[in-house]
Amino acid sequence: MAIRLGDEAPDFTAETTEGTINFHEWLGDGWGVLFSHPADYTPVCTTELGTVAKLKADFGKRNVKVIGVSVDPMEDHRGWINDINETQNTTMNFPLIADPDRKVAVAYDMIHPNADDKMTVRSVFVIGPDKKVKLTLTYPASTGRNFDELLRVIDSLQLTANFSVATPANWNDGDDCIISPAVSDEDAKTKFPKGFNAVKPYLRITPQPNR
Ligand code: BEZ
Repeated sequence: MAIRLGDEAPDFTAETTEGTINFHEWLGDGWGVLFSHPADYTPVCTTELGTVAKLKADFGKRNVKVIGVSVDPMEDHRGWINDINETQNTTMNFPLIADPDRKVAVAYDMIHPNADDKMTVRSVFVIGPDKKVKLTLTYPASTGRNFDELLRVIDSLQLTANFSVATPANWNDGDDCIISPAVSDEDAKTKFPKGFNAVKPYLRITPQPNR
């Protein structure tokens, strides 16, 4: 079944390149990103995993753990990691789930048979500290993902979670934010001490609260 925003992220126990993990326990009380790659020893996936390894500190400072998954077996993961390290000039530093029985892929609806009936698509799930799904993305095998965009979205999700703001089109960290329609003008005056500009009653702009 498809996973929708607000659903609880399915829990699982799986073998990874960093040992057996129980997903919810592994997440702890921080944020998580679970992302699938279609197959080991493939070019786009090689660049994606190298990119994520280089961004580990950026995910870490946002309190986000990252974990990859493919339906390939552990021995393939181990051999391929050597190639990723060599060709992407990095050291793999996050776990990859070996999912040859497709337990995780099926639980997260990562196999889209009309695209490919064996490999997963490129799925991304961002999971909040409450274990609820906050964001889903689905890319085809031929398009590598933009992980800077993923960090941008996580910044927006965390602002919403912590400060009751939304972020406008093309927002980037440091730009003005939008006060959630659920917050009254009266409450906004105390919640947003830097003030706000009510362009319309439903469009209230405030400086980014944590800047
Ligand atoms: C790739 O990672 O390059 C790839 C994987 C599966 C199908 C097509 C491309």
